[in-house]
Amino acid sequence: MGFPRQRLRRLRQNESLRRMVRETTLTPDSMIYPLFVTWGEGRQEPISSMPGHFRWSVDLLVKEATEAQAAGVPAVILFGIPELKDERGSAAYDKEGVVQRAVRALKDQLPELFVITDVCIDEYTSHGHCGLVREGRIVNDETLDCLRLMAKTHAEAGVDMVAPSDMMDGRVGAIRDELDQMGFQDIPIMAYSAKYASSLYAPFREAADSSPAFGDRRSYQMDPANAREALREVNLDIEEGADVVMVKPALFFLDIIRLIHDSISAPLAAYQVSGEYSMIKAAAQAGWIDHDKVMMESLLSIKRAGADIILTYFAKEAARLLNDGLR
Ligand code: PBG
Repeated sequence: MGFPRQRLRRLRQNESLRRMVRETTLTPDSMIYPLFVTWGEGRQEPISSMPGHFRWSVDLLVKEATEAQAAGVPAVILFGIPELKDERGSAAYDKEGVVQRAVRALKDQLPELFVITDVCIDEYTSHGHCGLVREGRIVNDETLDCLRLMAKTHAEAGVDMVAPSDMMDGRVGAIRDELDQMGFQDIPIMAYSAKYASSLYAPFREAADSSPAFGDRRSYQMDPANAREALREVNLDIEEGADVVMVKPALFFLDIIRLIHDSISAPLAAYQVSGEYSMIKAAAQAGWIDHDKVMMESLLSIKRAGADIILTYFAKEAARLLNDGLR
């Protein structure tokens, strides 16, 4: 039965009707706000390629997190930029490291805020790689020891969930074992399972000063050409104990989000990465697109593709807009 009996425009006539038949709704409940934390006090360093984002010292990080929480954002994920980097990324698993201190401060001052930490040594290594380097190669199994230690110190600081983003094989199992042995059975792991070797991480690398000093990340991050391999990554991570799995980046990989959503039953997160954020900001600043509308459409697309959780640098702004809409 078709036209003229059927007219799809009938249900599009006004906002009440459109709301009634809307298939996807965005809420701040599913958003995680990424934040960069660095050493010192009273510091708020702008990141030129990520307008609106800063490297915060712990004291000011707490203020920014307070604002995000007030806007309705339930969770943050922390990335640390240490004062000193070395070959082994030692600052990543220092009990007094920037992230460990930030977790303690946030859990102390904002106990309701859900605090997640990124577990990966690239922001802490002098060479910028996510693993230890031996003769120009990224070594897998020795890196697992660093990741175990990193996750353990985050847990001891009071973190609510850890998120390994390094793409070493076996890291989820290694971290799960470590946490369990140390009595942290209840801390979930959100695994960056299908993390692609994308060019969209450039602004993040400016923020974290973590561009690889040589080579690239293609020997550990996934080839953007591959879809089925994402399922293998996801299944392995779940076998190793991941509670939430992730696809990253989001917008260029909506097909992967859909594929994984339809194939597994674990909660699925998607990371709208720095380059996705910066492209929208830049085009909006040039006056070529409407910032708020494109921001919301991008988040809606990620949700519609099947993500339960969205990590996004827009979380604070989007939550504010969504709450204004309800008023
Ligand atoms: C690695 C990590 C990266 C991002 C999140 N975790 C950088 C990388 O793989 O180079 C990128 C996130 C973004 O671009 O927003 N610790």
